[in-house]
Formats: sequence, structure tokens, C-alpha cells
Amino acid sequence: MAQKIVAGNWKMNLSLQEGLTLISETTNMLKDEKRNDAKVIFATPFVYLHAVRNLVEQTSGTYLAAQNCSEHTKGAYTGEISASMLASVGAGYVIIGHSERRLYYNETHQQLAEKINRALEENLQVIFCCGETIEIREKNEHIEFVQKQLAGSLFHLSNEQMKNIVVAYEPVWAIGTGKTASTEQAQEMHAEIRKYLSEKFGTETAQNTSILYGGSVNAGNAKELFACPDVDGGLVGGASLKSRDFTEIIKAYNP
Ligand code: PGA
Repeated sequence: MAQKIVAGNWKMNLSLQEGLTLISETTNMLKDEKRNDAKVIFATPFVYLHAVRNLVEQTSGTYLAAQNCSEHTKGAYTGEISASMLASVGAGYVIIGHSERRLYYNETHQQLAEKINRALEENLQVIFCCGETIEIREKNEHIEFVQKQLAGSLFHLSNEQMKNIVVAYEPVWAIGTGKTASTEQAQEMHAEIRKYLSEKFGTETAQNTSILYGGSVNAGNAKELFACPDVDGGLVGGASLKSRDFTEIIKAYNP
């Protein structure tokens, strides 16, 4: 069985003080609940990781993620952040291949594969994002497109390494648009992703890989999306910036 995960991707939002408040409000609200077993991840801007670490580590079941890392180990790469730096400030996870990075920073399959290698070398867990644009979906090429993203950046890994990979399916047309994939669209793609992983890595690895849905997840639609058999949780952008909304999404896993 794949681990259930609800991850909040802050992107380039919030001040440090706002971020600290968001984490403490969220963890306080969760403390009052009988917690379900979904892992909760806060993917904060790099510069906040160290400062929020204690707050995140104080609450069981909550983890810290970065939103990107360099494909290089170290050296003369001004402005870049290495996977070992992330590990040294307490990040347990790193998001790699978000569509905004693919689009605005031209990140390629090969570059993402290298970033994943660097992250795994530092024992970080990777949240690997994939997903098609509206043009590709309209041409009915979405499944093939996502398969290429998976093959291009993950298929060099061993089964052992795949234990540290979480896949996040985020259709680009649903990100930040308020236009969520229907449960049928999400389930179809998640099942295809699992099938494709199983062809390469075997059934056990595929069954154990968490596949998250991302794209306009909110407190109102989380429960039905997370109820899809192949959806193991969510990668949440906008709605993760408000403690009440994010907590409601996490609570979608409550019985
Ligand atoms: P959104 O973003 O929830 O604001 O659509 C999701 C993401 O990009 O991870």
C-alpha cells in the first residue's frame, strides 16, 4: 500500500513570519484531531527551511520539503542550492520537475534525472511532478506525454531507489486555475501512471509508490479526489497557504 501524503507547495509566497504562523496554526489544528495516517509536507522557499525546521519536527507526521535543487553536487554555480545543502538544513523531501520549472526555466528530462540523482545521493525523498498542458490533452496525447516524462527522468532508477520517489500528477491546465481534473480524469491518469511504473519496476514497486494529484485541490474537492483508488493524496498550491483550508484538505483522510 502506498503512503498517503498531503503536501503544501508554497511556491514563491509568504514572508517568514507568515510561514511560521501558517505551520503553527496548521499543526495546532491537527493536534486537536485524532490524526489520520497521511503524512503532511510543507514545501517552503529555500530561505525558510532552516527557520521552520524545529516547528515542523516538533509535530509527528509532518515533514519539510524544498521546491527544487541543483543538478550539480557543488561548485561555481552562483545562486544555486545543492541537495546536500537541503539535507544539512533539515529538508527530508524535494519537489523536482514542477511544471513551472519545466516551463519558465526550461528544465529538461535529462536535467531532472540528474537533480533526482543528486537528491537521492543525499537521502532526500523526491516528489517528482508530471502532467500535460491543455493542448496535449485536447489532442488526446496526455497519457503518452506523461509516460515520456516518467521514462525520461525516472526509468534509470533501481527498484530500491524508487522507494524514495513520490509521483505527483499535476495537469498544467488545472494548476492555479480553479479548474480541477474530474475524479474520472484523475483516476484514469493515476491508474495509467501506476501501470506504466509496474511495467518497468514490477507490481510491488508500483503499488507502493505514492501518486499524488495536484491542480486546484481545495477543501471542497479533496475528499472525492482522494477517494479515487489510485490517488494517494495531493500536492496543494494555493489552498496550502491558508491554515484552515490546508487542515481541511489533510482531514479529507479522516474516517
Ligand atoms: P494549485 O497548485 O493547488 O494552486 O493549483 C498546485 C501546484 O502547482 O503544486
